[in-house]
Amino acid sequence: MRIGILGTGNVGRALGGAWSAAGHEVVLGSRKPDETAARGGNVPVVSTQAAVASADVVVNATPGTASLDLLTSLGAPALAGKVLLDVAVGFTDDGGLSHPGESLGEELQRAFPDTRVVKSLCTLDRLVMIAPESLEGPSTVFLSGDDPTAKDTVRRLLHDLGWSPDSVLDLGGIATARGQEHFSLLFIPVAQAIGSYRFGLQVVKLSDDVTESYEQAQAAAESAS
Ligand SMILES: NC(=O)c1ccc[n+]([C@@H]2O[C@H](COP(=O)([O-])OP(=O)(O)OC[C@H]3O[C@@H](n4cnc5c(N)ncnc54)[C@H](OP(=O)(O)O)[C@@H]3O)[C@@H](O)[C@H]2O)c1
Repeated sequence: MRIGILGTGNVGRALGGAWSAAGHEVVLGSRKPDETAARGGNVPVVSTQAAVASADVVVNATPGTASLDLLTSLGAPALAGKVLLDVAVGFTDDGGLSHPGESLGEELQRAFPDTRVVKSLCTLDRLVMIAPESLEGPSTVFLSGDDPTAKDTVRRLLHDLGWSPDSVLDLGGIATARGQEHFSLLFIPVAQAIGSYRFGLQVVKLSDDVTESYEQAQAAAESAS
């Protein structure tokens, strides 16, 4: 797959290196490619325009407070028809969310209706994104997006980072990106409590037997009252 990653920061470089090693054709898109060329390592650094132009999948790895302006400057036609994998979260200076009542993912989908936005990976530290097999136990990674085929494309890219099919949980449409982005309000205190940003999170269901017997007991109590 041809992947254009916007941002030459921590996340862009980690994902770029991992997908390149998995055999994808990857470039990093930078606002100042002449100054950031060395950041890419084996992954070429090009302009943001060139990164988008050559890509089947564009990855937004920029600060969530700057993403809309950057993508708008590239223009909706340049992004039309592409999958936009959005891993960004917007933070205010005081550590709050820049999209407290909704999500950046929804804002991007509204701004670029002809682009298929998928939110994923933003609940994880960059090293966990690319090395899930190194966690001490299984972890869940989430998907949010309105277009099923775009989500399938992202599933394949997650697989190439090491995420097994049963670790990927499709939450539904792009509105569910709120939950992923707002998870950062819990992510940071958890990281502070355990002394590391490098942890996973697994969704674990209560056994059906326990749920059923609890519901039967409750129904019996209600009918007796
Ligand atoms: N770090 C993590 O582990 C992690 C985990 C989950 C989610 N995220 C989210 O992923 C996104 C990227 O995180 P990161 O840690 O890679 O951030 P970072 O190290 O600060 O890198 C962001 C990159 O975005 C580009 N950029 C474009 N417009 C920008 C602007 N106005 N101001 C600053 N940089 C701009 C820059 O690349 P050029 O200078 O080359 O243009 C910059 O290097 C953020 O939204 C973050 O919340 C991060």
